[in-house]
Amino acid sequence: MLTFSKRILFVGFGFVARCTLPVLLKHVKIPLENITILEFEPDEDAIRPWIEKGVNFVRARVAPDNLGELLSRHVSAGDILIDLAWNIECDEILQWCHDHGVLYLNTSVELWDPYQNSQGAHPTKMTLYWRQMNLRRLVAGWDSPGPTAVLEHGANPGLISHFTKHALLDIAKVCLEERKFAGEEAEQIAEHANSQAFNHLAHALGVKVIHCSERDTQISDRPKEVDEFVNTWSVEGFREEGTTTAEMGWGTHEKTLPPFAYEHTDGPRSQICLARMGINTQVVSWVPDSTIIGMVVRHGEAFSISEKLSVRDAAGQTIYRPTCHYAYCPCDAAIASLWELRGNNYQLQSRQRIMTDEITSGSDTLGALLMGHPLDSWWCGTSLSIEEARRLVPHQNATTMQVAISVTAATMWMIENPAEGVKLPDDLPHDYVLGIAKPYLGKFISVQSDWTPLKYYSNAFHGFNRPAIDPADPWQFKNFLLTDGD
Ligand SMILES: NC(=O)c1ccc[n+]([C@@H]2O[C@H](COP(=O)([O-])OP(=O)(O)OC[C@H]3O[C@@H](n4cnc5c(N)ncnc54)[C@H](O)[C@@H]3O)[C@@H](O)[C@H]2O)c1
Repeated sequence: MLTFSKRILFVGFGFVARCTLPVLLKHVKIPLENITILEFEPDEDAIRPWIEKGVNFVRARVAPDNLGELLSRHVSAGDILIDLAWNIECDEILQWCHDHGVLYLNTSVELWDPYQNSQGAHPTKMTLYWRQMNLRRLVAGWDSPGPTAVLEHGANPGLISHFTKHALLDIAKVCLEERKFAGEEAEQIAEHANSQAFNHLAHALGVKVIHCSERDTQISDRPKEVDEFVNTWSVEGFREEGTTTAEMGWGTHEKTLPPFAYEHTDGPRSQICLARMGINTQVVSWVPDSTIIGMVVRHGEAFSISEKLSVRDAAGQTIYRPTCHYAYCPCDAAIASLWELRGNNYQLQSRQRIMTDEITSGSDTLGALLMGHPLDSWWCGTSLSIEEARRLVPHQNATTMQVAISVTAATMWMIENPAEGVKLPDDLPHDYVLGIAKPYLGKFISVQSDWTPLKYYSNAFHGFNRPAIDPADPWQFKNFLLTDGD
């Protein structure tokens, strides 16, 4: 157990934070009076037990006009700020933490008002890539790396980067055992695996596509009602990311851009975005052991994984990059909620509910699906049942548990590495994070599969329509994308 004698401030005490605090306390020894929760709309039942135990509570909302003044009352140099709210502008809170020596962690990079000026805006300006470029510029202006700030360290983005590295090492091991590579190629793969040069390893193995594939099967005995959005995590967070551009890291093996694609003009230009909502951009994907239809909801891992796995030549030209994006099949109640949301012209339902105690069964199965190498596909991730999640922390669900343990592991890493500057999940050691996380992830699975997007492809009107597929190369994005052509 780690000991931390400074202060921790939780900003936001929603479902993820409520699951994180008890998990964190199992791993970090800290006086409860050193912890403060800052929340503007507290769930009294959730917060009361913590206040009774000695945790401080402040009812307030972090806003553009009070950020510095409010935060400086509760954290100073050496303390930790865990941001589990939504829509706090990352650039601003990060700069404040940097200036004041405060360690910072969040699970997504957000803006004060993501909908402001969105109507008619160029799709590239609506992207997470755009936000990442702003962050790069901000950090480039600093004299020193400063206190550690781990950005986007939840389940996905977050754990998914560590699953990807774990999968790459397993693929290399099996490929070498099965002699899929010979001679110099085999030697190089062994060397890249040994030195954990993951970009060179992915390149040498021939990984072309990485999905963050997720199927949430949690169901409850309380059906979704009319004018209600039901989900297993933040409804506001899901709507925000799902109703804007689909985004993906764009692989060097791709032959053609998909319809409505836009490329960036600055930075590494590693991503594309579509003038199409993520929830309306659907792909086939796979989790053990079934094909799923997932949504290409934009997420931080599409940027960080494809960027960190890129290989550049001496002139700085990218010679290898995998396509990388989310393929999200949410819980059934959320799928029904999205259907209603579309009918409402994307106006959010008047009531929202995050399922916890009413869940009767199901699991959240979330992992990295690496494709296009000699073993076809490999999936590495977690399948956590509601029963196991409740055993670990009562009144939680499987989805929030996967985020909570990731936040905990990253917080521990920050305590042990307090002056590392800004880090994305891919910068953290995967064995450290997974070593802490695994006992909380239910079934940890790392498995080969012969799945390809064309394996079960069928066309009910063959000869009468124009399917947009490339049978010669299963790993082209067009083979995953559901289109009107078939
Ligand atoms: N990376 C991941 O895997 C992952 C997964 C789930 C959620 N998330 C993110 O984690 C965050 C929390 O998710 P959640 O499911 O707990 O959401 P939630 O809606 O249950 O909780 C967020 C809480 O923050 C509070 N809050 C919002 N803005 C605030 C502000 N400015 N000041 C003070 N309090 C504020 C809200 O009142 C709410 O109680 C969201 O940003 C979400 O996008 C990331």
